[in-house]
Amino acid sequence: MEQLPPRADFDNVVALTGAGISVAAGLGTFRGPDGLWTIAPDVERAMHAEYVPGNIDLMWQVWGGMHEQAQEAGPTPAHRALAVVQAQVITQNVDGLHHTAGSHDTIEIHGSAGRARCLLCPWNGPAVEAARASGDPRPRCPRCGELVRPSVVLFGESLDEAALAAAQHAAVSADLFLAVGTSGRVAPASWLAPMARAAGATVINIDPVPGDPGPAFHHQVTGDAQQVLADWAG
Ligand code: OAD
Repeated sequence: MEQLPPRADFDNVVALTGAGISVAAGLGTFRGPDGLWTIAPDVERAMHAEYVPGNIDLMWQVWGGMHEQAQEAGPTPAHRALAVVQAQVITQNVDGLHHTAGSHDTIEIHGSAGRARCLLCPWNGPAVEAARASGDPRPRCPRCGELVRPSVVLFGESLDEAALAAAQHAAVSADLFLAVGTSGRVAPASWLAPMARAAGATVINIDPVPGDPGPAFHHQVTGDAQQVLADWAG
């Protein structure tokens, strides 16, 4: 089985993470036989912009529930390992676990379920600050009183330009680029590994499901991210 090369051989480790890294915190992946979309197809309604605002309650249930579960479980050994090796993390996850693990400059390209944004005014802040008006169980904007939604990027919405630019800059600056627990099926996140490769990085995929991760990758380390990264970080 292919291994990760020694950390000491690299100056600038960048990790792109996906749902697989948070499975050990009790969260589901999206795709595949055990993925959320297979076992609970209704949740997909919480992930498409075309259903807003009719899906706000479901959004809080799905994304808010995910964030709550993650914060209760806390970061996994793999999240901690990436913090220990001081990797620059780019994550597609919205669960906040890289921050709680100590990777404070994590680039959250799909937003954060720990934040909320107003449907009407520019307010965007911590979800816990979204006031709950009496008699209305739905979080509301502390500034204007309108409903707020989780500050996550839905299908049909654009990524934050600054976050995407920061992710692209990190990818082309890497000398080791790790894709961890992501199927690589969603653009523009899926373009980062090819960008890193074109800029000269060693590019490796970590996933328990054996397979060919694609031409951007030098190889795959086939295994559980928890084991692989914890061993690597020492
Ligand atoms: P996916 O569900 O597409 O892929 C999860 C990957 O994690 C799969 O390749 C699994 O084999 C792998 N995996 C499972 N357990 C693992 C473990 N213990 N260690 C390492 N890998 C493991 O999830 P993402 O690629 O993150 O977007 O999905 C990308 C985006 O699609 C998400 O951010 C979400 C979704 O639509 C938004 O919500 C905007």
